[in-house]
Amino acid sequence: TVQLVIALDGPAAAGKGTLSRKLAEHYGLRHLDTGLTYRATAKALIDRGLPLDDEDLAAGIARGLELSGLDRAVLSAHKIGEAASKVAVMPKVRQALVEAQREFAATPPGAVLDGRDIGTVVCPDALIKFYVTASPEVRAKRRYQEIIGQGGTAELPEILADLQKRDARDAGRADSPLKPAADAHMVDTTDQGIEEAFETARTIIDKAL
Ligand code: C5P
Repeated sequence: TVQLVIALDGPAAAGKGTLSRKLAEHYGLRHLDTGLTYRATAKALIDRGLPLDDEDLAAGIARGLELSGLDRAVLSAHKIGEAASKVAVMPKVRQALVEAQREFAATPPGAVLDGRDIGTVVCPDALIKFYVTASPEVRAKRRYQEIIGQGGTAELPEILADLQKRDARDAGRADSPLKPAADAHMVDTTDQGIEEAFETARTIIDKAL
């Protein structure tokens, strides 16, 4: 049997998380949201009152991370996402987390991984790659509605500015910048809902199987 790996990359709030979970469920694969590994590393530093820019310190934490203990609910805070993108620029941190991510991907029967560098760096041999995008305005609005829906408060212009800042940091870093793999299928969710994007992805995958 072949190891089925599906890679999804893209900027924040483009819908790749929801799409990944649906695909994993549909194809009976395990799913790893790799953003959580960077978030957990950042949160561990914050919780211990440690700086976010000490590479050896952060890499030590990254090496000790247990993938099974990652809890989205604990890691979803906006400031953790922001901190995650700061620790994510450090090559030693990436090295440690990428190693754990590859191990996850290599475990049968296969997996769906989503992040920023899955198709380009973590799993360059993935059978199928998607690059999921949407306009910054639409992504900011989705993030805004998500926060309001959870009973929180937010300002749309502020969310838009933060998203663009984080995208710029992710796309501009030297190590493993956010960008589509050459062989990625582009999925633009600006004008299509997640159901539609799922059908698009499913058709592409079924053709490749
Ligand atoms: O996707 P999420 O918002 O949880 O990711 C948080 C941050 O982690 C991203 O902004 C990015 O800097 C970093 N990240 C990364 N590579 C990945 C996944 C996330 O650099 N594969």
